[in-house]
Amino acid sequence: MSSTILVTGGAGYIGSHTVLELLNQGDQVIVVDNLSNASEEALERVKKITGKHVVFFQADILDKAALSQIFKHNQIDAVIHFAGLKAVGESTQIPLTYYHNNVTGTITLCQVMAEYNVKSLVFSSSATVYGDPQALPLLESMPTGLPTNAYGHSKLMIEEILRDLSESDPSWRIVILRYFNPIGAHESGLIGEDPNGIPNNLMPFITQVAVGRRDTLSIFGNDYNTKDGTGVRDYIHVVDLALGHLKALEKLKTDAGVFTYNLGTGVGYSVLEMANTFAEVSGQPIPHQIVDRRPGDIAACYADASAAKNDLGWTAQFDLKRMCKDSWRWQKNNPNGYKD
Ligand code: NAD
Ligand code: UD1
Repeated sequence: MSSTILVTGGAGYIGSHTVLELLNQGDQVIVVDNLSNASEEALERVKKITGKHVVFFQADILDKAALSQIFKHNQIDAVIHFAGLKAVGESTQIPLTYYHNNVTGTITLCQVMAEYNVKSLVFSSSATVYGDPQALPLLESMPTGLPTNAYGHSKLMIEEILRDLSESDPSWRIVILRYFNPIGAHESGLIGEDPNGIPNNLMPFITQVAVGRRDTLSIFGNDYNTKDGTGVRDYIHVVDLALGHLKALEKLKTDAGVFTYNLGTGVGYSVLEMANTFAEVSGQPIPHQIVDRRPGDIAACYADASAAKNDLGWTAQFDLKRMCKDSWRWQKNNPNGYKD
């Protein structure tokens, strides 16, 4: 049976891919996004790919009155909550903005949900909550670490707030998804990641080198205790991630409480492996230089994703070559992102 899902941050990178998969499975989708880090064009393209309609409200999740109007006039079954600020470096410079947007924004959203008796929520958390791992692969039961930045703190705080909320009112149904490193794009090449300014993350930097927007990839350190000395991460295709949210919604139809899952492939690749695989798949050279480590970086991080497999019936399907191929198609077809 089709459901109506409200998606906050639905015009963003992961949100737009999830909206697409929701529409494909026949759900009705309402997007709330303030467009602080996104373009409405992403939703136009989702409509073009799916041939389906998306209801869009340009609104801020901090705006309680605006959210209330949306809940008042729509019968909403569940919420997927992507809206948030995510730039780690920026979060250390403007922490109050990050806490206000991410933490107060989530509290405001949950208050309005409670008021309208919509108590099913999927929340975007991050592997960053584990801090520097004591052991690998990372299991959900392992201790959360001490994040070195306000962004990471905001995710951990929200996780704790959601657990307290469920404790106070067991009728809430909450899935917390801890994403590892999302990359890739929809195979159409019409939607993808479109960062503002110089990309902080590895894959968008690589694709911008490949397309000629940047000269050289700087590799942040080659003296880590890893297979080749460069950092190791668990990269996951954004479409696999999107499909994880559909599985999480299924879980919420049957179970109340708070459930936390890693979404990763369980495989770690080094920065050099990423640059080399991308070059091989795209046919574009990726010139690189080794520079100092980036402060706050850890050596290696990858998931044990067996809980999502056993509980949600979800596993990542796409391999690294496919991730690189899809990232490249998006970047090649849209050298300047949605501004093209
Ligand atoms: P994104 O920036 O592309 O998407 C976030 C969206 O939220 C944007 O469209 C932005 O305009 C919107 N937004 C921000 N604040 C808002 C507010 N107050 N009201 C309404 N809309 C608002 O980022 P993304 O990569 O798609 O990430 C989605 C979520 O997943 C975020 O919460 C992020 O922290 C989390 N996450 C992302 C990654 C990653 O590597 N991309 C990893 C782990 C977790
Ligand atoms: C970063 C964030 C993390 C967030 C995650 C989401 C930091 C310190 N951490 O993690 O909080 O949850 O993104 O995706 O920003 N690298 C280079 N050169 C580059 C860019 C990256 O060598 O130009 C290396 C990094 O050192 C790292 C790997 O590539 O080893 C991946 O980096 P990145 O994509 O930024 O992700 P994370 O560091 O895992």
